[in-house]
Amino acid sequence: MSTEEQGGQKTAAATKIAPATGKLGVMVVGLGAVATTMIAGIEAVRRGLAKPIGSLTQMGTIRLGKRTDGNSPLIKDFVPLADLNDLVFTGWDIFADNVYESAAHAKVLDKETLDQLKPYLETIQPLPAVFDQYYVKRLHGTHVKKGKNKRDLANQVIADIQAFKKTVDRVVMIWAASTEIFIEPSAVHESIEAFEKGLENDDIGIAPSQIYAYAALSEGVPFANGAPNLTVDTRALIELSKRNAAPICGKDFKTGQTFMKTVLAPALKARMLGVSGWFSTNILGNRDGEVLDDPQSFKTKEESKLGSLDYIFQPELYPDLYQDLYHKIRINYYPPRGDDKEAWDNIDIFGWMGYPMQIKVNFLCRDSILAAPIALDLVLFLDLAKRTPSLRSIGIQEWLSFYLKSPQTAAGLYPEHDLFIQSMKLKNTLRHIMGADLITHLGLEYYD
Ligand SMILES: NC(=O)c1ccc[n+]([C@@H]2O[C@H](COP(=O)([O-])OP(=O)(O)OC[C@H]3O[C@@H](n4cnc5c(N)ncnc54)[C@H](O)[C@@H]3O)[C@@H](O)[C@H]2O)c1
Repeated sequence: MSTEEQGGQKTAAATKIAPATGKLGVMVVGLGAVATTMIAGIEAVRRGLAKPIGSLTQMGTIRLGKRTDGNSPLIKDFVPLADLNDLVFTGWDIFADNVYESAAHAKVLDKETLDQLKPYLETIQPLPAVFDQYYVKRLHGTHVKKGKNKRDLANQVIADIQAFKKTVDRVVMIWAASTEIFIEPSAVHESIEAFEKGLENDDIGIAPSQIYAYAALSEGVPFANGAPNLTVDTRALIELSKRNAAPICGKDFKTGQTFMKTVLAPALKARMLGVSGWFSTNILGNRDGEVLDDPQSFKTKEESKLGSLDYIFQPELYPDLYQDLYHKIRINYYPPRGDDKEAWDNIDIFGWMGYPMQIKVNFLCRDSILAAPIALDLVLFLDLAKRTPSLRSIGIQEWLSFYLKSPQTAAGLYPEHDLFIQSMKLKNTLRHIMGADLITHLGLEYYD
């Protein structure tokens, strides 16, 4: 009596997920454009001034059972997620501006909206940051911690976390700070012991983002990486994540151009259309754009953005269609646009008998408007993972790839970039942890 559309893959009875009662403390590293847009937006939603558009956890539904059952509850009614009213924010930044001042500086939200939220936003003051200009060349931090070595700095972040824990019931940390320079994994990232020794020795391979992540994971706090930095994508921190039941995910919020890429490329591949070139360029003028104007930070971003097409097209399986694909990405810092990025894609494709065609995409987006709901969803889902016995100790939460440009996976696994496969994976994971039938879309039973 297998219900084939549901795959007959009923999973083990729902593992006991702890309820989302009490306050969820959100520690945000970097209170810049994305973070302040997220916090201001959540407060606006809480006060009935806005709708949480773009947030799957708040607006999305999930089908349960057969298509004929008509049972599609809201995701937040199906899985126990923290309520927006229970979120409490704190964070770190290298500038002392409070969230209102920082949001005003970012110029993502209009002044009228910000002024309505001002009394609340002003209460969130950044803690002094762990910062080293070696890792973000274009910024000069003034609100930074001092310590005798990286171990001392990690201990200071741990003390911040412990103090915050006293005021809330659970804590999640998210990196929404600037993109660091490109760092490759080295010996110091090989094991927890090597990493801890590296903290003592001020090893150059340990960037500030890794100091925050180490502190979070040491405290059993889940950690999401919204930037393309290496951060938790190392053996040492994955091990620490598993050891302390602190789920992790990364890297790099999938917001604008890569979001479109991971929709269009699977469509072209599904139709077996060839692609000879994909040229992507962007102009943006926010602080993120300024940081990415530095070649070493750009390299980190470029690596993150480049990966998706190769994995989606699988040129090794389809040499006739994709082996000669020329993929180029440019990001140009152009101050007049602020956060209102403009992205152009020119895609040279070919069809039947090799005849060429072109697709042009011109996406006038708002970076932080797209990123804010992603950051919110990652926070809520990581907190869910932490409360879910079958997820909390597995380390990387690959089911959250949906939100990320360069998804982290277990060693030896290639990342899944296709947005619709990612979406199916996410929803099936939710069905799985709740003991509901998985949905495979086979659906033969309707024709018995
Ligand atoms: N907006 C998007 O669409 C998007 C998409 C993908 C990734 N990202 C990434 O998210 C991050 C944030 O983007 P944004 O637009 O908010 O940038 P932003 O420059 O407005 O904000 C980053 C903040 O981090 C602070 N900061 C830098 N180093 C820090 C440190 N070591 N500790 C604490 N704070 C630190 C900066 O002072 C700044 O306030 C960037 O890395 C960006 O690449 C953004």
